[in-house]
Amino acid sequence: MNINDIKHVMVVGAGTMGHSIAQVYAQSGYDVDLVDLKQELLDKAKNKIKFNLSLLAEYQRVPSKEIPSIINRINLSTDLEIIAKKADYVVEAVSEDRNIKREVYSQLDEFCSHKIIFASNTSELNIFNIVDVSNPERLVIQHWFRPPHIIPLVEIVAGKKTSPEIIDLSRNILKKLGKTPIVLKKFTNAFIVNKIQQAINSAVFGLLLKGIATPEEIDLAVKTSFSLRLPVVGVVQNLDFVGLDVISDVLKNMGLELSIIKDKVDQGHYGVKTSKGLFDYSGRSEEQILRKKDEKYLEILKFLEKLDVFEPV
Ligand SMILES: NC(=O)c1ccc[n+]([C@@H]2O[C@H](COP(=O)([O-])OP(=O)(O)OC[C@H]3O[C@@H](n4cnc5c(N)ncnc54)[C@H](O)[C@@H]3O)[C@@H](O)[C@H]2O)c1
Repeated sequence: MNINDIKHVMVVGAGTMGHSIAQVYAQSGYDVDLVDLKQELLDKAKNKIKFNLSLLAEYQRVPSKEIPSIINRINLSTDLEIIAKKADYVVEAVSEDRNIKREVYSQLDEFCSHKIIFASNTSELNIFNIVDVSNPERLVIQHWFRPPHIIPLVEIVAGKKTSPEIIDLSRNILKKLGKTPIVLKKFTNAFIVNKIQQAINSAVFGLLLKGIATPEEIDLAVKTSFSLRLPVVGVVQNLDFVGLDVISDVLKNMGLELSIIKDKVDQGHYGVKTSKGLFDYSGRSEEQILRKKDEKYLEILKFLEKLDVFEPV
């Protein structure tokens, strides 16, 4: 299947995620059929889309004059069978319930052309083991983040049978929508971001349980430290700024060894201070790199202070 063959996108499930994903496709010129069980759910979804678009227009993310045509490109329907028959591409965003997913895929498999992509927005289900579709090579996970019309990332996860062409097509169509697709090398529970969020949540629960700090103090600690660094150095490059030799010692103290860190340290690649670490800084002085980073930190700090985000919302 070629990306140019995709004209009619069917989004099944018009809830928190589906309505906004449908909107993103319509913003890029696709004709979208948004399907849910009841008309009242679809009407609610359409109202949310109108609200989203007017907010985006306020922030110059969508020209106001385009809003009516974007909305016109979204057709609402409760008739999955009729819509499935004319769909060129399906995004599944129904409830995270394996029985509901199974039932929906069985209907999609029955009514859709056997060539088209089934892109599941599941957050945590191994959809590849749960549902049964003919041509499983066209089944892929495209995991969006709330709210889809604002957050750039979409994680793409392939099953053992997903074809490389479908992964490429997924990446290309998401780029066309202006999104930032990342293809995972293989399936893992919770994918990348939710796995990291789960680790954070588990630490937060521990701190709260042990009464180490109040909720306000924990958030203030995070907002005035790593949340400021995060947009600039992420969670991996940050290790290069700490120094991989230091990280290696920390790991040793915890009784751990991570070959990717140990190998770098053994080769004398400690991060920014040696010009190579997990990332390559060759050709730039340490001072240049630190300056580039710190300038961005200062810009972010200025912006966050202006927004007054250090107090709870
Ligand atoms: N909420 C999030 O932050 C988030 C983030 C990423 C991914 N997801 C995933 O996206 C999917 C949808 O989540 P959500 O938060 O939008 O859920 P939601 O409950 O808000 O919406 C699900 C919608 O699916 C509809 N639905 C159920 N069965 C249906 C059927 N047979 N045919 C058509 N529509 C049907 C429901 O009526 C409902 O409107 C889930 O797989 C979830 O894990 C959610």
